[in-house]
Amino acid sequence: MNHFQYKDGVLCAEDVSLAAIAKEVGTPFYCYSSATLERHYKVFSQSLPKDSLVAFSVKANGNLAVLKTLAAMGAGADVVSGGELKKALAAGIAAEKIVFSGVGKTKTEMALALKSGIFQFNVESEPELFALNDVAASLGVKAPIAFRVNPDVDALTHAKISTGHSETKFGVPWAKVEEAYAAAAKLPNIDVCGIDVHIGSQITDLAPFAAAFDRITALTKSLRAAGHTISRIDVGGGLGVPYRNDNVPPPDPAAYGALAAKVVKETGAQMIFEPGRVIVANAGVLVTRVIYAKSGEDKNFLIVDAGMNDLIRPAMYDAYHEIVAVKAPAADAPWSRYDVVGPVCETSDIFGADRALPVLKSDDLVAILAAGAYGAVMASAYNARPLAPEVLVKGDEWAVVRPRMDDDALYASDRIPAWIG
Ligand code: LLP
Repeated sequence: MNHFQYKDGVLCAEDVSLAAIAKEVGTPFYCYSSATLERHYKVFSQSLPKDSLVAFSVKANGNLAVLKTLAAMGAGADVVSGGELKKALAAGIAAEKIVFSGVGKTKTEMALALKSGIFQFNVESEPELFALNDVAASLGVKAPIAFRVNPDVDALTHAKISTGHSETKFGVPWAKVEEAYAAAAKLPNIDVCGIDVHIGSQITDLAPFAAAFDRITALTKSLRAAGHTISRIDVGGGLGVPYRNDNVPPPDPAAYGALAAKVVKETGAQMIFEPGRVIVANAGVLVTRVIYAKSGEDKNFLIVDAGMNDLIRPAMYDAYHEIVAVKAPAADAPWSRYDVVGPVCETSDIFGADRALPVLKSDDLVAILAAGAYGAVMASAYNARPLAPEVLVKGDEWAVVRPRMDDDALYASDRIPAWIG
């Protein structure tokens, strides 16, 4: 359920016409709906056991206005870099609601997080554990940790976003978990609090979650029997969203919540969740304008002004995003099939192949749907294309929450060494 609907013949975000925004900010642009963000956060968090911490995964969408919208609803944050930590704090998310994930935390990032007083470090290896102990000792504090364990579960999702099987770089290997906890117990500046697991992203089947949660429940029991304090269980993110209208919808948060309730029943632990996509994906669209409608030998192309630099998911993961015309097609409008492509000089710069759309021409607008997660955050200025602006809508109000990058900024920080002159 989202708040992008046709009203009076034009696609709107809540009560604002996307065509009206395009007129003022130009194209391409990302547009987010506050009502959708709020609804998704509410539905997700209300499905979980009470006292759970919902730590929104900042990597999915790090715009401060988005983070503040979620923070106002009680969200914490899952961060993976010093930069994300600073953003979460700047958005007013309390340090006691922030967890720090990632395989390569540097000592500088650890120090920043310790000084801020974050809730938990999700430690992914013994070398990281020792480094964290050293940093905590130098600051005279104790670092609260959970080990991210790798449960060797196949998440049944795209290989590039699957993290919980034994061949990935993520987490402490299952066979080494007890050793890692024993090592942590001996360190004076480490405070072992829990276990963490994250098996992948865009997971559309509950079975891998159920398998991982069962393994974690059993592990909690055996670690407690060995004398470790496991009062928190962090199950990461990963719940999938509907990207295609014609697919079976992914499990709803209530079914996912029921799995979590079982973990709490058996362990009594506080649970932590790190949702990203399920909160923001369908709360955002990328609006782009047709530059040219081109007829090839066998196909028709819509060449639009957004490119793979703006939204890389189709090029990187063969991801499917619905594409619709911003102007609602008349009942008798002619339709055609198009490859919707960007202007970047790469064959993979394609948003959708062989899509049915009303016949479109230069200057018409299209919206690429479900672009709120891993969209703007993964954008680059490749081909010297300035980063697209982001807009947030609330009811009949809207605001630019990140302006379009200036063309000058594309090279303003380049420096010419003296020998070139
Ligand atoms: N927690 C950890 C430790 C993660 O690595 C991730 C995502 C999340 C939480 C949030 O997962 P979510 O609820 O959003 O599935 N760029 C890819 C997705 C990469 C996901 C990386 N980790 C994409 O566009 O599909």
